[in-house]
Amino acid sequence: MDKSDVGLIGLGVMGKSLSLNMAEKGFKVSVYNRTDGGEAQVVSHFIKENRSFKHILGFTQLHDFVASIERPRKLLIMIKAGTAVDTVIELLIPLLDEGDVVIDGGNSHYLDTLKRCHYLADHGIYFVGCGISGGEAGARTGPCLMPGGAYEGYQIIAPLLEKISAKDSRNQPCCAYIGKDGSGHFIKMVHNGIEYAEMQLLAEVYAVLKTSMQSEEIAEVLSGWLATDLSSYLLDITITILKKRDGEHYVLDTILDQAGQKGTGSWSSKTALDLGAVTTMMSSAVFARYVSSFKAQRETFSKAIVPETPTGTLDVEHLENAYRFARIINHHQGFELMRLASVEYDWQLDLSEIARIWTQGCIIRSHFMEASVEILKDKPSFLASSPIFEKLLHLERPIKTSIFYALNHRVGFDAFWSAYHYWISMTTRELPANLIQAQRDFFGAHTYQLKGDSSSEYYHTNWNEA
Ligand code: 6PG
Repeated sequence: MDKSDVGLIGLGVMGKSLSLNMAEKGFKVSVYNRTDGGEAQVVSHFIKENRSFKHILGFTQLHDFVASIERPRKLLIMIKAGTAVDTVIELLIPLLDEGDVVIDGGNSHYLDTLKRCHYLADHGIYFVGCGISGGEAGARTGPCLMPGGAYEGYQIIAPLLEKISAKDSRNQPCCAYIGKDGSGHFIKMVHNGIEYAEMQLLAEVYAVLKTSMQSEEIAEVLSGWLATDLSSYLLDITITILKKRDGEHYVLDTILDQAGQKGTGSWSSKTALDLGAVTTMMSSAVFARYVSSFKAQRETFSKAIVPETPTGTLDVEHLENAYRFARIINHHQGFELMRLASVEYDWQLDLSEIARIWTQGCIIRSHFMEASVEILKDKPSFLASSPIFEKLLHLERPIKTSIFYALNHRVGFDAFWSAYHYWISMTTRELPANLIQAQRDFFGAHTYQLKGDSSSEYYHTNWNEA
């Protein structure tokens, strides 16, 4: 029997779509799924449903599955992140040979990936943590792939990954080796953090527009934005969502206002805190989802609010420019997080290349991401780019007036406010941090430095001394 080119473990939504993508691109694929937990028929159903694909072989025995794959084996694990990945790795180790490559395509935490890279290296097996973005449709037709980990392993799987990935505007694969250890999963985590904030900005735009418009009208406004430099996949799907009707009703109006999350957004924020990066926008987006989950309390407390007559008229052009402003800050914060992580872990991340692979296939693909490829070729960050800085200066008034409008109408506008607040602080020469330093020195003798003191010495004052 001909051996398969690649094996895939885990026939969830993403696993199924990736198997079909690989088969369609001419690879012979072995697929495996567990049979416990009510999943006994998953493999047979998948094979039956996809009879037209001659080169997909189904297995429910891990031993037979592994034996069906050409060496060095390429194994793509597509299961829920967490301990299940370690369980599968333990089951695989005795069945694998030196030089085989194990790819984890789930949303694993980058520190877990780092450990697994070292653990499998001790067994002579290459481990690659590969961030995958694009959802079900992307996985089926061309996702954005962010592989990191063992470079020798990457070289073995590169032709496969590059072939199944999305292609950028120059027909180059939206797949590139990111760096060692967990760097691939790290940048997928940051991608999701940026994604959270991009989604929250659109939710806040929707809330503000709703103060004076119906769904169709909002969709029309956003369609106008889509035709500009603001165009993005997330804006595009938002317009489709706004227009979707079920008989008399808009589907959106029937959806419960409690946002779910699987964790990558909060991981980004926690990591930013650890690395000293400022990611106020993605954090505000995470908290906005948390706040939404307290539905019962919100319902109770809302009864006490006596609506005031709001003042001010909605300036849609200002809101559009506020959105432009906030998106730049969001991307700036996300890429700064990656820059700082790169220094901390010595990953030597190529930020322009990361922007390039994010131009197609992934959820945060956009016109601005296209522009970012060039901006980040020359500059270490967005704020370091003069045209971007000038643009933000120019957009300061519209974001301010949009914040006033939202406040006057009692619309939560956290992500926008976080963007503007970050801008204020980053462009303020003197912050009140001198008082923080004095307070620290007062109660803890933590010492402080002096303005204009080239010696950079630390001083202490006996604050209670007369
Ligand atoms: C992607 C998505 C995908 C998924 C996330 C977000 O890039 O294809 O980010 O990974 O939608 O898991 O999920 P939550 O919003 O549930 O955290």
